[in-house]
Amino acid sequence: MQTIIRLTDNYSDSENIIFPVTDLKHVNKELFDTGELEYMKSFLRDHKQKNFSFNRLGTWLHVLLIERESEKSARLETYRETGAKITPAVNEHKIDSVIVVDAEDKPEEILAFAEGMALKNYQFLKYKSKPDDELNTLSTIYIGSKKVVQEEVDRLNIVVDAVSRARNMVNEPVATLNAVALAGEIEKMGKESGALVEVFNRKKIESLKMGGLLAVNRGSVDPPTFSIIEWKPENAVNKKPVVLVGKGVVYDTGGMNIKTGNFMNDMKMDMAGGAAVASAVYAVAKAKVPMHVIALVPATDNRTHGNAYVSGDVITMYDGTRVEVINTDAEGRMLLADALGYAKKYDPELVIDVATLTGSAMRAIGNYGVVGMQSNAGKEFNRLKQCGEEVYERLVEFPLWKEYAEELKSDIADIKHLGGSNAGAITAGKFLEHFTDYPFIHLDIAGPAFMEKAYKYYPAGGSGIVVRLLFKYLLDKTV
Ligand code: BES
Ligand code: MG
Ligand code: ZN
Repeated sequence: MQTIIRLTDNYSDSENIIFPVTDLKHVNKELFDTGELEYMKSFLRDHKQKNFSFNRLGTWLHVLLIERESEKSARLETYRETGAKITPAVNEHKIDSVIVVDAEDKPEEILAFAEGMALKNYQFLKYKSKPDDELNTLSTIYIGSKKVVQEEVDRLNIVVDAVSRARNMVNEPVATLNAVALAGEIEKMGKESGALVEVFNRKKIESLKMGGLLAVNRGSVDPPTFSIIEWKPENAVNKKPVVLVGKGVVYDTGGMNIKTGNFMNDMKMDMAGGAAVASAVYAVAKAKVPMHVIALVPATDNRTHGNAYVSGDVITMYDGTRVEVINTDAEGRMLLADALGYAKKYDPELVIDVATLTGSAMRAIGNYGVVGMQSNAGKEFNRLKQCGEEVYERLVEFPLWKEYAEELKSDIADIKHLGGSNAGAITAGKFLEHFTDYPFIHLDIAGPAFMEKAYKYYPAGGSGIVVRLLFKYLLDKTV
């Protein structure tokens, strides 16, 4: 169930109220008696206690002291985290609505607090026999503020919804979300947002000669899909579209180079990039952002089968490049290459691909951020990075130096799809770059796409990473 955020300009003591404040002097004094105010002051001073909860008849009052932070990125994140931290308590008390009071006139911070609460309140209960037993009671977060504007609240609701949808798709097992079903979800998001969706089926993909996508799909009993979701408003500020490309591997067994040990666990997440870019376009369309944006999602599972592709195969890709296959587990780049080749037909201003591409990226920085690379897009990368700081989906840039291309030289084909044992995230990016002739940004989300356990405002499972980032980036380009 979606948590709704609403603006309100008044509140009374008969409601559940949260005061996130940096200073006790800003709490509404009428709601506390002098004893309570003294109690908070002394426990803060003597015991560094930061959280105070008062049980009123049927309702709660929470005062949450937030550390002053001058750096904006860290400050907003503290508000999100604090919002996330109080949410389980709200649900434990079976509360269905709260009012978050902007007592210090800090609209951005209070929105971040509500965002943290709403993101934390997400649940995936589809496969629980008794979902109602576990369903969070919190359904409405009111923001009591004179500074927050309605448009910001509308956007926040759209983004929270888009993140939930991305998470839902990632959490869905392959048995119920194969490539065709993923395309169906994208079609639904198109209908609900006003974005246009076109889905290529196997026949169309064959006629387009998308060799990379078809090669990976050869091991599957299900057909591949290639989904296109486009938002093209009349008032678009950009002449050339921004094209997003998302890896849509609905399950990655590794193929003939099958994953061993428990490396296959959670590989239903391998379409998180596809889910993220589709959800970002969904959000942009819902919010009627005046930007022409297109997302491409090539999708299949990567499995073993009688005629599965194998190492040593040479595959002719959509753009004609012949690629020597080295390891069938490096499947993502095969289908992304076709989509990146296809993106050329839009004459894009910029292409950003999002993919759970390499264990190498995950090992490099863990799940605290996104590994990014760019070619001919330094300025846009920096803008994206700045947005990343604000939404706290942080980017770190890895280089695409020309020397890495050496590792992709093949003895028998134009290139091979895998480099050496070092810098695997980069050689993967370098491989993708081969299929581009436009400003290009590559985001490897292998680390943060899926949380093993709940963390901050991320529940265990799909995180919805980069949906908030892409939305902010695209929105910022219009102002
Ligand atoms: N989907 C995986 C990458 C991945 C690993 C994502 C862990 C999320 C968590 C990708 O298709 C893959 O298998 N990559 C291999 C490539 C290797 C065979 C060269 C990897 O990184 O181990
Ligand atoms: Mg793989
Ligand atoms: Zn994969």
